[in-house]
Amino acid sequence: MCGIVGYVGHRQAERVLVGGLRKLEYRGYDSAGLATISEGRVEVRRAVGKLDNLETLLDAEPLSGSVGMGHTRWATHGRPSERNAHPHRAGDVVVIHNGIIENYVQLREELAAAGCVLCSDTDTEVIGHLIEGGRKSGKSLADATRGAIARLRGSFAIVVISSGEPDRLIAAKNATPVVVGLGQGENLVASDIPALLDYTRDVLFLEDGEMAEVTADSVRLSTFDGRVVERAARRITWDPVTAQKGGYKHFLLKEIHEQPTAIIDTLRGRLDQDAASVTLGELEGLEKDIAALEHVTIVACGTAWHAALIGRYAIERLVRLPVDVDYGSEYRYRDPIIDSRTLMIVVSQSGETADTLAAVEAAHERGAKVLAVCNVLDSSIARKADYVLYTHAGPEISVASTKAFTTQLAAFYLLAVWMGRRRGALAAAEEARYVQALAELPLLVEGALKEEEAIARVARQLSGVSDVLYLGRGVNFPVALEGALKLKEISYIHAEGYPSGEMKHGPIALIDEQMPVVVIIPTDEVYEKTLSNLKEVESRGGRILSVTDDADAELARISEWVVPVPRTDSLLMPMILAVPLQLLAYYVAVERGSDVDQPRNLAKSVTVE
Ligand code: G6P
Repeated sequence: MCGIVGYVGHRQAERVLVGGLRKLEYRGYDSAGLATISEGRVEVRRAVGKLDNLETLLDAEPLSGSVGMGHTRWATHGRPSERNAHPHRAGDVVVIHNGIIENYVQLREELAAAGCVLCSDTDTEVIGHLIEGGRKSGKSLADATRGAIARLRGSFAIVVISSGEPDRLIAAKNATPVVVGLGQGENLVASDIPALLDYTRDVLFLEDGEMAEVTADSVRLSTFDGRVVERAARRITWDPVTAQKGGYKHFLLKEIHEQPTAIIDTLRGRLDQDAASVTLGELEGLEKDIAALEHVTIVACGTAWHAALIGRYAIERLVRLPVDVDYGSEYRYRDPIIDSRTLMIVVSQSGETADTLAAVEAAHERGAKVLAVCNVLDSSIARKADYVLYTHAGPEISVASTKAFTTQLAAFYLLAVWMGRRRGALAAAEEARYVQALAELPLLVEGALKEEEAIARVARQLSGVSDVLYLGRGVNFPVALEGALKLKEISYIHAEGYPSGEMKHGPIALIDEQMPVVVIIPTDEVYEKTLSNLKEVESRGGRILSVTDDADAELARISEWVVPVPRTDSLLMPMILAVPLQLLAYYVAVERGSDVDQPRNLAKSVTVE
């Protein structure tokens, strides 16, 4: 994982690089580091923890020079420490890396046997030594990098500088992104577009197997085997939105509260209330293929995978096509049965998740078209997919996903109605009913947010527990999974989501007077079934927190806490029911004093498999 940025130009590199790293910290915050070339020497500064620590170090020991690179790390090989922080030095070569070098153990042994002194536990360090080896045998920095790359197996985006060629940097890509920014008398490279946008809007995306040789006045693209690549620059026309906390204590709380607006933004221009129809202009090209589809496969990771599970319900119910859902990390290692009669839908907030991206490639290899439900404009997944349904949730800064999730649900509901009509599975009157219900959703989510104070009180009582079980049935089972994930991610309390009916096949053994059970129990067609499951919890002394649109006398009697939410069509209820669970996780985490927006060990975007 990790974020990388490089600069060659006329400005003080330090400031450009730190600014770039700020935009990339969502990719990891275990350590950060910078290297610049100044007066023929490479200087390195590294600090464990968040970028703030590196900035403090740079205040005391600034770096000069106008050529340099910066890195923010999510530790894969080697625990977070100064010695494992990037950049890594090997003689006059310095390197930063995002990805995993799979054959690094063998390369380390080989290098150590040849007398190299390896100073870190990382897989990255071997790259620097291999390049240095090439330099010693007289190769240019570009050719030495090419030679080193030929020895590597795995995924990498790397940037290399050397005091031996102080006017340039080399960037190379295989399976993790690199974008080159073209400026006037300055050029940049980075993992992601926002890190460049203060300096340029003209960019070149490197493809796998390509490298860039970058000076202040030139960018030369070539393949790893040395063929020159000509590529026209692309202009980025959107503006980065800088997110501020806007008076909230944490981005997470702000993003939870932004959901009504974010959902409006997802629906905007796509619900025609006069015509009582859903319009998805961006999917025009898909329209002609819908009738021939036989299957839908949805692939995602993390919270997006939970949205995908709910998307399956919506598509099966409204489109009447069989749907399967898989984790990106699992899908890529199956031998999936998929062809041009399958539509693959990938769901990703960031559009950069490596496993999800790999699923897009697997689908294309087998002739299937890919539709991405994505939040970040021009991200890798958005660029690779055949169609993109942007969620327009705005920047989500907090690592734990909230508004991205509910807007992904909104996108799925729109898509299911749109596809259902075009396949003839959904009547016009039903479309009209859903259009009306979708239009009302933002207000209902607003209604769910009104329970915030009551939820904060419950959170105070729950903050000391060590395990929580979340139960839900049908379309709300994924809501249970998402509620449990939120709690785990930010409060570090062990939590599990389970289908209510499965509880008696295992988790019931855990239930005692200490064990809170959060149940998602709207008054839908399975209400009574879930209520029966709760009676089983009650008989074993479990403490019940019910999230429901209407607690009858029996539910109220057996629940220690009841959180009410507004009611809508049962298929759309997950969007409303998720909100109290987000607030619960937030207030428990605050109560426990954890780092809510940047929880330990996590990253916003997982760019390694
Ligand atoms: C990480 C994030 C999660 C996110 C998941 C998938 O684990 O911490 O919040 O749900 O990646 O990310 P994506 O950007 O593909 O939705």
